[in-house]
Amino acid sequence: MKPVNVGLLGLGTVGAGTVNLLAENAREITRRAGRTVRVTHAAVRDLSKPRACDVEGIRISDDPAAVVADPEVDVVLELIGGTDEAYRLVMAAIEHGKHVVTANKHLIALYGNEIFAAADNRGVVVTFEAAVAGGIPIIKAIREGLAANRIEWLAGIINGTSNFILSQMMFEGKEFDEALAEAQELGYAEADPTFDVEGVDAAHKLAILGSIAFGIPLSYDQIYTQGIRDLAVEDIAYCEEMGYRIKHLGIARRQDGGVEMRVHPTLVSEKALLASVEGEKNAVMVYGDAVGPTVYYGAGAGAGPTASAVVADLIDTVRIMSVDPAGRVPHLAFQPDQISNEPIMGAEDFYCGHYFRIQVADEPGVMAEITGLLAELDVSIEAILQKDPEEGGDDAFIIIVTKPVREGRLIEGLDQIRALPYTREGVVHMRVAQFED
Ligand code: NAP
Ligand code: HSE
Repeated sequence: MKPVNVGLLGLGTVGAGTVNLLAENAREITRRAGRTVRVTHAAVRDLSKPRACDVEGIRISDDPAAVVADPEVDVVLELIGGTDEAYRLVMAAIEHGKHVVTANKHLIALYGNEIFAAADNRGVVVTFEAAVAGGIPIIKAIREGLAANRIEWLAGIINGTSNFILSQMMFEGKEFDEALAEAQELGYAEADPTFDVEGVDAAHKLAILGSIAFGIPLSYDQIYTQGIRDLAVEDIAYCEEMGYRIKHLGIARRQDGGVEMRVHPTLVSEKALLASVEGEKNAVMVYGDAVGPTVYYGAGAGAGPTASAVVADLIDTVRIMSVDPAGRVPHLAFQPDQISNEPIMGAEDFYCGHYFRIQVADEPGVMAEITGLLAELDVSIEAILQKDPEEGGDDAFIIIVTKPVREGRLIEGLDQIRALPYTREGVVHMRVAQFED
């Protein structure tokens, strides 16, 4: 059969990794795809840069639009990142009747609804396995493997850079900036690393996971998002003392009347599976009503793992080229006319445990008053600790972990605690997650 020609946009970490993997596993890939797959065209920004792959035989230009329009190209791989140029190129590829593979979660989270509609109209597919959790085939697992289930919730470590930084801070005693620089050097971080450390990248991914799990439109702009930038080393230590690890999680859960979607640093029991996921590794737990809890673990970033997902999508694309569009797996798991607009809940309706660290004047009765306030609001305490701050003279830290409670009620309690005369500025607040694993 005629080989499939690939037009590759971007020869950076993922693009070069993809060229290398296609060359290394060419025989296995052909055996699986049923046709030879070869990169014939590529586009980059700077033609003079050295490449981390063998580019012999690839026509390289700095004109990605020409690659997308070239009639010799069958499938376009969008691996340049960003949204402006990537959006134009992906839409142009679709218009030209080409299938697209992308690793770009930012693009899919923001413009996926219209990209998939355009692809459906044109009878082509846009695949995006590499957009979430690097090398872990989580899109395929949810969209196909768990298709018989009503998904109740999912929770995961879905940003490798943040997890890498947290591990380096906890186990290697590294400073935040040093650990981030290392993640950038290793190719894990986004072009703009604030996306990683401020939770934006994880929110892009959660938007995708939530959509394919619950059959809702991509709703990135409604996700509650908080990163790890402001995490204090002492909270990592206090949590450890109380039997918790801090992980940066994306959580999506069905609730009465809507869906909860949130990304933030989270306390998880040190015994939970997610607590032991370290470095750039990702893990996603998905709870389906028939199957119960399931867990998917692996490398969440880097050239090889991400290329693994890109090439798997490419093989799928080659296989479905001859399939009638009506018989293909829907882009967002559910048939397009079955996507439903469930309300996305605000933070006041989140239901979970909470951690807070309050700096107070160390006087008799303070702890009793704080716990009394929580009791009046019917907030139960799971654990409590008192510590002396390194600086702060006669002050004390009161550290409390609550049992699950509707967040609106807890915030009411925190406001009252903040208003007490002996409470200092800057109460630290994090959420706690419990999973059936
Ligand atoms: P990268 O190393 O910065 O590579 C980007 C590539 O795109 C470079 O080769 C660059 O050319 C090229 N490029 C950028 N703008 C271009 C334009 N307008 N025209 C032509 N070429 C252009 O990025 P990356 O880490 O490979 O990431 C690529 C995509 O994969 C992003 O969407 C990212 O979010 C996603 N992703 C990355 C990882 C990871 O671990 N790195 C994992 C999963 C998903 P020059 O080299 O000439 O500058
Ligand atoms: N910057 C991303 C991360 C790359 O660290 O997880 C993988 O999507």
